[in-house]
Amino acid sequence: MVALVPAAGRGVRLGAGVPKALVPVGGRSLLSRAVRGLLASGRVQHVVVAAPPDQVEVVAAELAELPSAHVVPGGAERTDSVRRALDAAAQVAPDARVVLVHDAARAFTPASVIQDVVDAVEQGAPAVVPVLPVTDTIKQVDDAGDVVSTVDRARLRAVQTPQGFAIDVLRDAYAAAGDITTDDAGLVERLGGEVRTVPGHPHALKITTAFDLAIAESVLAPAED
Ligand code: C5P
Repeated sequence: MVALVPAAGRGVRLGAGVPKALVPVGGRSLLSRAVRGLLASGRVQHVVVAAPPDQVEVVAAELAELPSAHVVPGGAERTDSVRRALDAAAQVAPDARVVLVHDAARAFTPASVIQDVVDAVEQGAPAVVPVLPVTDTIKQVDDAGDVVSTVDRARLRAVQTPQGFAIDVLRDAYAAAGDITTDDAGLVERLGGEVRTVPGHPHALKITTAFDLAIAESVLAPAED
């Protein structure tokens, strides 16, 4: 089993001045926590991280204690970074049948979520995403910001990571993907593939803003250390 972690973004929304993946929480970077979490799940043997091309050595040094973590240069867009990591996975883990794609920013994803995603793929699902119900009311608006409609939230889910795939399914999806996507499972959907859901977890939040970081520092990191 191999996991891909696209971590080549600049993380400007966090405003930390370093790539978001390298931002420390409770003394350890988001990336290091995310990679350790994958390996600690007991389901993942190899992790391929896509780093900003000018920071490959910095990222490799960050993960030096983890011999199962491999770092490759990412690309201009997330799609390119995943593609490069997926290519590298063929060398690193040629026998892998299942692949996960995980956000470094979801550094506190519980092991049970990772295990549930892997188990669902191993039981035959071509693609699996962890999801949470949507708690806010969701409205669609027009260009002026005026409400057009209210969406039935009972059928909506917020999608977390890791997303899991039969590795051939993800390869085919990326081979067919011409354009940019932020959602790997969406590529499978476009090809008509079935995407199954498993329950996500609030601790798998995507740490995007300074507020999220503060939550992680105060609630999640102390609980872990
Ligand atoms: O910027 P955003 O939060 O949408 O990025 C999602 C993920 O994709 C982040 O983990 C980021 O590091 C990664 N990414 C990447 N290569 C890029 C741009 C983003 O690996 N060129």
